[in-house]
Amino acid sequence: MHEISGSIISRIEDLAEERGLKLKAMLVGSAARNTWLAGDHDLDIFLGMPSNADLGSAMEIARLVAPDHEEKYAEHPYVHARVDGFEVDLVPCYLVPDASRLRSAVDRTPFHTEYVARRIVGLEDDVLLLKQFMKGIDVYGSELKVGGFSGYLAELLVLFFGSFQRVLQAASSWRPGEFLDLEGLGKEEHEEPLVVVDPVDPRRNVAAALTLDKMLQFSAASRCFLAEPSLDFFFPDPVAPLSDDELAAQINERKSLLILVDFQAPAVVEDVLFPQLRKAEESVKALLERYGFRLLRSDVASYRDRAAILIEMEVWELSRVCRRCGPPVWEAAHQSRFLAAHPRPLSGPYIADGRALVETARKYTRAEDLLAAEIGNLSLGRHLSSAVRSGHNIYVGFELASIKDEDFRIFLARYFQARNRVC
Ligand code: UTP
Ligand code: MN
Repeated sequence: MHEISGSIISRIEDLAEERGLKLKAMLVGSAARNTWLAGDHDLDIFLGMPSNADLGSAMEIARLVAPDHEEKYAEHPYVHARVDGFEVDLVPCYLVPDASRLRSAVDRTPFHTEYVARRIVGLEDDVLLLKQFMKGIDVYGSELKVGGFSGYLAELLVLFFGSFQRVLQAASSWRPGEFLDLEGLGKEEHEEPLVVVDPVDPRRNVAAALTLDKMLQFSAASRCFLAEPSLDFFFPDPVAPLSDDELAAQINERKSLLILVDFQAPAVVEDVLFPQLRKAEESVKALLERYGFRLLRSDVASYRDRAAILIEMEVWELSRVCRRCGPPVWEAAHQSRFLAAHPRPLSGPYIADGRALVETARKYTRAEDLLAAEIGNLSLGRHLSSAVRSGHNIYVGFELASIKDEDFRIFLARYFQARNRVC
């Protein structure tokens, strides 16, 4: 790994020199700190330019260094390449004098490496244990799809508490509002459930992307592990894709109604896609509840080039007749407007609890009809609205079995399992 990163770095520097560019290529991330997990062949190489320079010229060099690449976009564009079996991120950044004077979010990363690399010596195995533990219980990764712990956060926890085991002991009794400050430089001005002050930029919370649930999944699993340690925490059995028979059995046992809205995923990165999918999930839930249906649970998924919202209904069919409640009887003006709005009720108007009521017919008696008719009118966010409008499928109940994709079937299996470590 160091051979390959070394040769990439010298090629970058040669290309920069040919062009007369001031550029510093650096290996950062877990590879630079000896804290990468076996099997993760991921190299993070940063192309540092003076703060007044144009990052475009660093991008040009990144493209030349690795012909087999794709361009990605976070705050700035970067190159994701494959070199000799390694996944390499080539990320242009600005060389700033200190991490609090950054121009772009990635400018902090070289400072992280500098801070961790020296201090972590002798604790690398503790970091690896912690990362693998977090991976095994599904809380590793700060991308928005996961909302878990970043590698840097795992390293800081080990530095703060001193060992893998002591991190778990401390986490066992975590509650929302934990505040950890390695250098004593931070202020308690954050709202997030876990605050870990970034030692290289004290205003920033390293755990800002961690959700309350992932924090507490880690806490609960830590407690279970200390009570009864087992390798399974680190290396759980992989979840098998749900078979057609298993889907039928779940449907038969739960006797709920599954509805899946499935569409072409817009061409955006997961960090953009997932927050939008979750917002769309909330709008769909709100729509169904507004019309009187009841949900048990829901989730979102992406597989291949598709995205989907899964809804499990507890109440999905309603009588045609429903009650409409009017104003108090003594509010005469409101009253006549209410009656005019419902000219031919099925029953009523009648007076109950001081108000006029009518019983009228529902527009939608089945959740799936409501969804089919109204989903195109929901505002689902910029990228999803057009994706859903330009074509979507609604699968109901066992119709879900027509989607054979393995990742989708694993998603379904995990949905039904829905099991975290709690003890
Ligand atoms: P990576 O996601 O590659 O993390 O980000 P990593 O530390 O190398 O860990 P693994 O082993 O690949 O999972 C590279 C660097 O970007 C910064 C950190 O400095 C990290 O080392 N970073 C990334 C953050 O500060 N926060 C994040 O949420 C993600
Ligand atoms: Mn990395």
